[in-house]
Amino acid sequence: MINAGTDLYCIFGSPVGHSKSPLIHNTLFAHYNINAAYLAFEIQNIKEGIDAVRSLGIKGASITIPFKESIIPYVDDIAEDARQMGAVNTIVNQNGRLYGYNTDCMGAITPLKSIGIKGKKIAVIGAGGAAMAVVYGVLKSGGTPFVINRTVDKAKAMATRFNCEYVALAQLQEMPSLSADIIINTTSVGMVPDTEYSPLPERLLSPHMVVMDVVYTPLQTRLLKQAVKKGCQIVDGLAMFLHQGAAQFELWTGISPDMTIMRQTAIDDLEVTS
Ligand code: ATR
Repeated sequence: MINAGTDLYCIFGSPVGHSKSPLIHNTLFAHYNINAAYLAFEIQNIKEGIDAVRSLGIKGASITIPFKESIIPYVDDIAEDARQMGAVNTIVNQNGRLYGYNTDCMGAITPLKSIGIKGKKIAVIGAGGAAMAVVYGVLKSGGTPFVINRTVDKAKAMATRFNCEYVALAQLQEMPSLSADIIINTTSVGMVPDTEYSPLPERLLSPHMVVMDVVYTPLQTRLLKQAVKKGCQIVDGLAMFLHQGAAQFELWTGISPDMTIMRQTAIDDLEVTS
């Protein structure tokens, strides 16, 4: 029950109307009997959001598009991996001191741990914030990433930053095959309402590949459906989203949350809203 002792957590972004984070975190607070509430705030200026965290004593915040980079000057301390990625998606307010973390990287890499990344070649489609976290995590885990992006300059910039190879998305149309063990789509291609699109020509998929998508609306994207048809192992978009959220929850509460509860909550909601 909300009362005078309730701690506040929130998400800042624009837009945030679609976010499943309030549902997930509020479910976990209730499950673990924590007197806290999590709200979504659509804001235009991240400085005003951070001022609110300080003045209202908000205990923690998720940071999403478009503020993951612009928030950095406003935190008091930043974790080393978040600094290297140049992106913060989590704020922890410890007695008025604001710490910035990035749980996107762990969120992307954890679901691939059992499959193994070390020594593997990983095609990362996209060159935005999510791709950055994935490429950073792949390198840290001993894999070899290469970047595939619609805008070649952005692919090149990321490849230069992380010293890896890149290719233009359009070039895939002419390629006879794709040399990759794991393919990770970090773009929004295939997301509702454009569910008939896939970022990759189907013929480039082969059965030895593991295919991961960060899109989770729908859960079975066209890319993942094609991958299943080809006999590939798949990792759906809830995996990264839930693992990054679990890492946030642990930073805020010290509790490593039950992933089964998180996944079921998200799936129930997707079924209701789709
Ligand atoms: P995020 O933080 O979720 O990664 P982002 O930084 O806006 O979001 O990056 C979105 C990525 O998806 C970009 O790489 C973008 O490609 P461009 O660099 O060419 O803009 C990619 N993307 C988005 N829509 C796309 C589309 N319809 N086709 C191909 N790539 C697309």
